[in-house]
Amino acid sequence: MAGPRSVKQQLVLFLSFLTILACFVLPAVSVKHENFKTCSQSGFCKRNRAYADEAIASGSNWKPPYELDPSTVELKNGYLHGIVSKTIKSGEKIRLPLTVSFLESGAARVVLDEEKRIKGDIELRHGSNIRKERYNEAEKWAIVGGLAPNKAAVFSPESETGYTKVQYGPENQYLMVLRHAPLEISFQRDGETHVKLNDRGFLNLEHWRPKVDAPEGETTPEDESTWWEESFGGNTDSKPKGPESVALDITFPGYEHVYGIPEHADSMSLRETRGGSGNHEDPYRLYNSDVFEYELNSPMTLYGAIPFMQAHRKNSSVGVFWLNAAETWIDIVKAKSTSNPLSLGLSGKKTTQTHWFSESGQLDVFVFLGPNPQALSKTYGELTGYTQLPQQFAIAYHQCRWNYVTDEDVKEVDRRFDRYQIPYDVIWLDIEYTDGKKYFTWDPMTFPDPKGMQDQLDASERKLVAIIDPHLKNENGYPIIDELKGKDLGIKNKDGNIYDGWCWPGSSHWVDCFNPAAISWWKSLYSYDKFKGTFHNTFIWNDMNEPSVFNGPETTMPKDNIHYGNWEHRDVHNINGMTVVNATFQGLVERKKGQLQRPFVLTRSFYAGTQRMGAMWTGDNQAEWGHLAMSMPMVLNQGIAGFPFAGADVGGFFGNPDKDLLVRWYQTGIWYPFFRAHAHIDTRRREPYLTGEPFMQIISQAIRLRYQLLPAWYTAFHEASVSGIPIVRPQYYIHPEDEHGFAMDDQFYLGSTGILVKPVVAKDQDSVDIYLSDNEKYYDYFDYTIYQGSRKWHKVPAPLDKVPVLMQGGHVIPRKDRPRRSSGLMRWDPYTLVVVLDENGSADGTLYVDDGEGYDYEKGGYIHRQFIFVDSTFVSEDIGTKGPKTDAYLKSMADVRIEKIVVIGAPAEWEQKETVTVIEDGAKEATKAVLQFTGSKNGKAAFAVVKNPNVGIGKSWKIEF
Ligand code: NOJ
Repeated sequence: MAGPRSVKQQLVLFLSFLTILACFVLPAVSVKHENFKTCSQSGFCKRNRAYADEAIASGSNWKPPYELDPSTVELKNGYLHGIVSKTIKSGEKIRLPLTVSFLESGAARVVLDEEKRIKGDIELRHGSNIRKERYNEAEKWAIVGGLAPNKAAVFSPESETGYTKVQYGPENQYLMVLRHAPLEISFQRDGETHVKLNDRGFLNLEHWRPKVDAPEGETTPEDESTWWEESFGGNTDSKPKGPESVALDITFPGYEHVYGIPEHADSMSLRETRGGSGNHEDPYRLYNSDVFEYELNSPMTLYGAIPFMQAHRKNSSVGVFWLNAAETWIDIVKAKSTSNPLSLGLSGKKTTQTHWFSESGQLDVFVFLGPNPQALSKTYGELTGYTQLPQQFAIAYHQCRWNYVTDEDVKEVDRRFDRYQIPYDVIWLDIEYTDGKKYFTWDPMTFPDPKGMQDQLDASERKLVAIIDPHLKNENGYPIIDELKGKDLGIKNKDGNIYDGWCWPGSSHWVDCFNPAAISWWKSLYSYDKFKGTFHNTFIWNDMNEPSVFNGPETTMPKDNIHYGNWEHRDVHNINGMTVVNATFQGLVERKKGQLQRPFVLTRSFYAGTQRMGAMWTGDNQAEWGHLAMSMPMVLNQGIAGFPFAGADVGGFFGNPDKDLLVRWYQTGIWYPFFRAHAHIDTRRREPYLTGEPFMQIISQAIRLRYQLLPAWYTAFHEASVSGIPIVRPQYYIHPEDEHGFAMDDQFYLGSTGILVKPVVAKDQDSVDIYLSDNEKYYDYFDYTIYQGSRKWHKVPAPLDKVPVLMQGGHVIPRKDRPRRSSGLMRWDPYTLVVVLDENGSADGTLYVDDGEGYDYEKGGYIHRQFIFVDSTFVSEDIGTKGPKTDAYLKSMADVRIEKIVVIGAPAEWEQKETVTVIEDGAKEATKAVLQFTGSKNGKAAFAVVKNPNVGIGKSWKIEF
């Protein structure tokens, strides 16, 4: 019987009411802005913006204080040296040695340093004994080649008074024009200026100065409030070197779009940052940080930093690489181009003006004159290295969550993937597998049998990735921490004692992988004898390496911490994460003598060059449609910035995705170069087989599509590994002439295959509009519906079970069509070649194959073919260098054949044909293979299938249609 409610019942009701109310009024989870600095809270950012504002306000009265003394200039063997002087208020001139290197690649490098600091002729505050130089070792970590000077660079005969001009680059077609006073450097290609340094006069190198206290009761003549000490979030930075930032404005005349400088959750084409509608208020920031619940459409910093920017306009691309590892901010504005008659038709177009400032270090900037995006990728990659060619498994599907809780749990997940016939290659272990968050250990209760677990995975050629973070638990009796301390390999605090901070394990110390001894030690920890329970199929995930410090300023380390070589953390912060991956990578290479296996390491933090060592992912995103959509520009910008092995947590890290979101995320995730599902510890399980029908079937189909196209993906990875070109390519890379595509970041091409994808990233959407730049025929991947018409949008149906994928005419796409449990089990499977004919009835494409594991490919152990279809004849030709391992590899692949050729857009007259003639190199006679033709109907293209032509994938052959 319902009687009057008790007080307790009423209280419960009231609390429930409050909870329901809270659901409506609580803001969605979002970043804690107060934990991260805005520009105005970062002393040097504020100072440099103010400096720029003053320059702008002064207009033509602005007198930039930097000039080059022409009597000091010399050009020798590709290097120009000179002394720039900065005149300060007292009239004193500060000497700043300038070096411009002209490189064989066509890049130019401008370095400005401070003589006093090079000579060590300064005093540090607080009795500090850190290094006195400006940090000059970023090169040591980021750069691996491409620095050979172009000795043919010459002073230009046209040099006039007040200017020094140097011809350089390919056939000396580039010209550097250096104005002495005020200093300005511009770079010309084909007689036109493409990049200008300091044309707005924002160059600012804060020279060293002693701290002079103002007499009692007076103030210093300049605002010194951010010079000597800075406090934020309860931490005070002691700044032993005082103010020391470097800043420069870089202008791209006539270029409306700039890209790159990851990592930000923002559009691919970067926005303006000086306010105004649709623009940011703050500059883009690069200061590697663990940003909890990061927000979208923001210039806030994230986990990694690559200070490489591309600028693009119709048919021209140029770029700059700002080699600095300290906290960096970049302002961007777009101004109307002047109608200067010399600016060759640029009037009416916009000019992008950028302004870069870093807290410390040398001024070190590379200028690339393109002329196209591919050339930028190549030249930048020559410097910082190309992406590692990963093992085949690493580009297949990865199944992760925080956490698979026991070894039995892992085995059960593995069995269920098989039971439901869903392919996957790798299962991951997050931090809970360890014994009390002590890395390099296993929890004996939950993971008593790592070997049994990995044996089961190995039976289907699957792998395990285990997490190892760089913070080490400060607990007595943990051998690793004892060794770290005993060998003195930890990062130090400003007083020179080992730094202690808070992370997952509680009180922790951090390995200092800047130290060669620490690298050797860290490497040794991965040997099978030391990290017991790991095997040839165990690989590594380095997380929290920004480094993330829960009780540190901005969730990271104090800037006055000290690293090996007595460099301050301030100077090296953005490189820190990469040093950890570097040591891990080397550890995996060497973990067993004689075992030649390519490592796989995933990292959250990165810098220019980390692409040489593994993959990255975009960190802790959320199970929301907006985060799904944002994953594409983020992945594309990674590729633009030379680190294309990138992906986002499929499904979203925080929160529980609805089933339609999860489906759409898989349909998008299969196009990330790094394809991994991951989820927070508090989320519900969401392995694909748990989703129920029809979702499970749809997700399985999507994953199978990734597996079907693995030959195309691996070929795209190979291309990236030798030329730096992105694996998934934005519209402007493929169509550099079509201005409509320059900001497009929601559709992209897979490698050179002509496959054009536009995933659905919004709820309840059942079609997408795909934009076509060119007038080629495009065919629906699944049913060959034809789309044609350049510079137009085309509606493509996209019910929940379909991911919109088109194939551009003119390509040959390699596939493997037999579904298997893992990519390893597909090794000997036959190929299918899809020939997508263009308007002229032609197509071509490439395929790269190797053992997918070891390093034999470096000695020619690979197959690299070019397929060409022209005049009704299809041929396979060999490309690439040969080496000592070629024959053995070809022999091992002799039985791998082509089982099917599908020709899309087949000519109507083939209807009459029943066979094609097949001539394989070395075969005694030509053979016939059956041709099946299907005519065009309902807007769908005609196609023909050659059944079992039985030609070898490693052979040269010809098929006549
Ligand atoms: C933070 C990482 O971003 C996330 O992916 C991981 O699950 C947690 N750390 C726990 O290790």
